[in-house]
Amino acid sequence: MHSTSLLVAFICLAGLTSVAPGIPQPGAACPVLFEGRVALTTTAADFDKNTSVYNNLYDLGQNQTWAEVLKFPAVAPSLFDLTTATKSFEVTIDDESIFVPGGGEPQVGFRRSELLPAVDLSTNGNASTVQGTTTFHWSVRTDSTRPLNYSHEYHPVWHEYADYSSSQFTITAGVPFSTAKDPKITTAKSLRVAGLQSNTPETTFFQTLFTDDVWHNFALTMGWVDNTITVYYSEGYAPLELVAGPAFNNNTGGGAFHVGILKEPTGPLGIDVLYQGYQESGINEGLIFGGVFIENSDDGCVTLSL
Ligand SMILES: *[C@@H]1O[C@H](CO)[C@@H](O)[C@H](O)[C@H]1NC(C)=O
Ligand SMILES: *[C@@H]1O[C@H](CO)[C@@H](O)[C@H](O)[C@H]1NC(C)=O
Ligand SMILES: *[C@@H]1O[C@H](CO)[C@@H](O)[C@H](O)[C@H]1NC(C)=O
Ligand SMILES: *[C@@H]1O[C@H](CO)[C@@H](O)[C@H](O)[C@H]1NC(C)=O
Ligand SMILES: *[C@@H]1O[C@H](CO)[C@@H](O)[C@H](O)[C@H]1NC(C)=O
Repeated sequence: MHSTSLLVAFICLAGLTSVAPGIPQPGAACPVLFEGRVALTTTAADFDKNTSVYNNLYDLGQNQTWAEVLKFPAVAPSLFDLTTATKSFEVTIDDESIFVPGGGEPQVGFRRSELLPAVDLSTNGNASTVQGTTTFHWSVRTDSTRPLNYSHEYHPVWHEYADYSSSQFTITAGVPFSTAKDPKITTAKSLRVAGLQSNTPETTFFQTLFTDDVWHNFALTMGWVDNTITVYYSEGYAPLELVAGPAFNNNTGGGAFHVGILKEPTGPLGIDVLYQGYQESGINEGLIFGGVFIENSDDGCVTLSL
């Protein structure tokens, strides 16, 4: 076999590659900093316990429990749940999904349910997920029985500053609340990777159609020191492929990874979306997530396939 074919075969088998210069690490699995994949035996009520790998208290509706919010629909495992005896979970929102931050007012403009790592990974010593270079993994798919309303802007995944004033990256779907913020979005039913949220416009690094009933797999490699973002994507069980970057993104701010649904209101530009705008009532919406984990990519290690 030609050596190039051998190398390609090797990369496919090992499923690992470097961000740069592209040399795979023989036999090395990238060190996992946060394991967000849940065991097959995990129940929705387990997410309400303080033993959950996700925060059991927020961010969800003030009067809701995770036992009410989380579902386990019968779908094929996601790529990175295939060999780990772990399963996907669905995060839902309904009319009660109104979050009240500690000491704050009810955020009646939003409907939101998001899982955050239970541990503050930004102050977690050598396991910090906001130092060096780290890669955030997740897979997401729609649930035809709980469709989103793409007339609204949604945030299924993001990484929010420690002081909540911005986000280093946000995955968005639906009609942008402000086209000035996201002028490159032409298809509402799409998934987009947006960079630093406090920029207007945000930089859209990647977008893809949010087709139903297939896993959309993402990995974002964040250079916390060199201020870079690198985007990998695939569908189904295909290996992740580089689709954007490494590109500049100001990654200051620390903070935490959010996985779930934040639904923005509709309404005129200039309203305070936390407290104002329109939300239709009677909603029952959800997104299914799998293969959530964060790995250390300091040495260029990124998991691209099994
Ligand atoms: C965790 O929950 C258990 C049972 O509800 C309780 O006894 C324990 O004090 C809690 N631990 C912490 C650290 O909150
Ligand atoms: C939660 O329930 C309390 C008591 O019924 C109510 O006063 C409050 O408005 C509810 N919160 C939300 C966000 O619906
Ligand atoms: C962090 O350091 C501890 C103690 O040296 C070690 O056991 C652990 O594996 C390290 N974690 C990472 C992610 O390097
Ligand atoms: C979707 O959202 C728009 C804008 O808020 C609203 O007018 C419409 O009624 C919603 N559609 C459904 C099916 O709820
Ligand atoms: C990133 O943004 C922070 C806060 O606005 C600023 O202080 C810093 O200079 C920026 N870094 C780069 C590399 O642009």
